[in-house]
Amino acid sequence: MSVPFLDLKLQYQQIKDELQPLLQDLYESQQFVLGIPVSEFESTFAQYCGSAEAIGVASGTDALSISLEALDIGAGDEVITSAFTFIASAGAVVSCGAKPVFVDIDPVTFNLDPNQVEDKITKKTKAIIPVHLFGLAADMKSLLEISETSGIPLIEDACQAVGAEYQQQKVGTFGRTGCFSFFPTKNLGGFGDGGMVTTEDEKLAEKIRMIRVHGSKERYKSEVIGRNVRLDALQAIILDVKLKYLDEWNNKRRSIAQFYNEQLKSLPMTLPLESPGYHSVYNQYTVRVENRDQLVDHLVEKEIGYSIYYPIPLHLQPCYDYLGYKKGDFPESEKAADSVLSLPIYPELKTEQLKEVAQTLGAFYVKVG
Ligand SMILES: Cc1ncc(COP(=O)(O)O)c(C=O)c1O
Repeated sequence: MSVPFLDLKLQYQQIKDELQPLLQDLYESQQFVLGIPVSEFESTFAQYCGSAEAIGVASGTDALSISLEALDIGAGDEVITSAFTFIASAGAVVSCGAKPVFVDIDPVTFNLDPNQVEDKITKKTKAIIPVHLFGLAADMKSLLEISETSGIPLIEDACQAVGAEYQQQKVGTFGRTGCFSFFPTKNLGGFGDGGMVTTEDEKLAEKIRMIRVHGSKERYKSEVIGRNVRLDALQAIILDVKLKYLDEWNNKRRSIAQFYNEQLKSLPMTLPLESPGYHSVYNQYTVRVENRDQLVDHLVEKEIGYSIYYPIPLHLQPCYDYLGYKKGDFPESEKAADSVLSLPIYPELKTEQLKEVAQTLGAFYVKVG
């Protein structure tokens, strides 16, 4: 039995009938940009997260860069982030003219190691971007302490972690802003690109709202330098429908993770760990293995989907050569890049498929001894 790594068509089938009339109304209205659907979705999303404000933007990358811009971070400034994440966590920093400064990860959680953050703080550091990678919150207690002592704001990259909690508080509500992505493969995914910024700060929210529409509050009067990073009404309508099911879907991901934890525990691989106080939403179920290439060949042969997030840590990405990092600078990120492998985890997976994944992995280790 083949098991695809992800099959978005299955989720679409579940909500298709509910969506059709809403989309039909949108087509009839011909009001595609911002408008009531976006402001309604912003309110529901803010309520869901427990944040005061939510501002819909065009992508998770834009959520990050608009947060930095709204805090006046730009040329000459440094922003600390993880060396092991999706490229956009740092790309957003570069796009607003600042310099990304990388920090190694905690090997157990794959998230920013707070113990190494303080060493990287300089007079130029203007923000810290913790990433809640794979759906698991970063160590927010330690990071908040660092932020409070240093006065440097946290901008949470919650792009992979909508609905995740740390000490029963939703991610995206700890920092000056929380940044979310609605890329289709995320736990809450649209029919294209989309993103959201959450914040408790009303003034900052107002500025972000201006920046996303050319710096304007009033039409054709730009108070600040802005861009065009608006959320489409189409995405807002789809995401509003999907948000109702998010907890149910996230819980299914959590039970799949439990199933894998149980089935794979005796195999020579390191499984994800969710410590007390953390509530992961498993955007990915990522294991570490030693003989990854061989295992990948086996999975391909048996038609079991897998993915490698991420094969190259950010400090070794060719585009960041100019930052002057070299191999060996962030050993944990490098080890992670060489050993991680993500298994299929989406709410629509059937028990037989999960068993197939577990049996295929078990058979591999019998074969290689
Ligand atoms: C950790 C992380 N940060 C940022 C992003 C950027 O989000 P988007 O693809 O919506 O721009 C993503 C999504 O791909 C992500 O996984």
